[in-house]
Amino acid sequence: MYKISQGDFLKLVSFVHQNFGIDLSKKKQLIESRLASTLQTSGYTDFSEYVRYITSNASKTDIDIMLNKLTTNYTYFLREKTHFDFFSNTILPYLVSTKKNKVLSIWSAGCSTGEEPYTITMFIKDYLGSQASKWDTRVLATDISQRVLNIAMNGEYPIESIDNIPSKWRNLYFEKSMNSSKISVSKEVKNNVIFRTFNLMDPIRFKIPFDVIFCRNVMIYFDQATKDALIQRFYNATNPGGYLLIGHSENITKTATSFQYVMPSTYRKPI
Ligand SMILES: C[S@@+](CC[C@H](N)C(=O)[O-])C[C@H]1O[C@@H](n2cnc3c(N)ncnc32)[C@H](O)[C@@H]1O
Repeated sequence: MYKISQGDFLKLVSFVHQNFGIDLSKKKQLIESRLASTLQTSGYTDFSEYVRYITSNASKTDIDIMLNKLTTNYTYFLREKTHFDFFSNTILPYLVSTKKNKVLSIWSAGCSTGEEPYTITMFIKDYLGSQASKWDTRVLATDISQRVLNIAMNGEYPIESIDNIPSKWRNLYFEKSMNSSKISVSKEVKNNVIFRTFNLMDPIRFKIPFDVIFCRNVMIYFDQATKDALIQRFYNATNPGGYLLIGHSENITKTATSFQYVMPSTYRKPI
């Protein structure tokens, strides 16, 4: 088993925190166990050599491999459904009655393998029904990991992953895949999502402000200061009356943000 020295551990922790906002300061064991196979297969003799490479001139792919090992991309369709009920019963009616330009501006930040933005799309299509074609409903979906974005763009999932989707939606929004153990999201759903690589540590410079930002189960890896700064950037990038939805196990310090608390893990920018 490879062991990481305290010096290399601190160097790696600081590199990952500065560049990606992810706090690994209590994850020494996790680093040793999860990166062991990477060190072995890539032929590193010890952690010193690996940490030197990662913190100096590592390729984007190798950084991606490391982040994938150290963070979790766990996600699934209809995750934390109370958010989607609120989205469908409160947020969409509000947006549809107020957005005269018929453009919805929705961002799934930290979208992982795509189940979240595809779920958002299904709720929008379901809500708008025959009116959907009159609206620009495209969802921006971003993640730092190209590996998960490739899976997301492919839009093909194990058949069991849609077990919790109502059968009407399975017929409407999914198609058979060439691989019989898999299922694909329909072209219509796939085409509604724009996938991009984006590091949430970077300034937010998308063209238009957002009506809704889903950033769920992403900030769990960030320390408080990183989280507070990101929430401020989200605030600046949200339309008045727009919403921020975070993971059910997460919370934001009420005093550190101008977002108004609506209900657990749901916040709104004042109108
Ligand atoms: C657990 S998944 C959450 C997926 C989905 N939002 C959900 O709630 O099911 C967390 C995702 O955040 C991404 N992530 C972590 N740090 C990031 C950063 N600095 N910038 C962008 N994405 C990041 C990870 O790559 C991972 O795919």
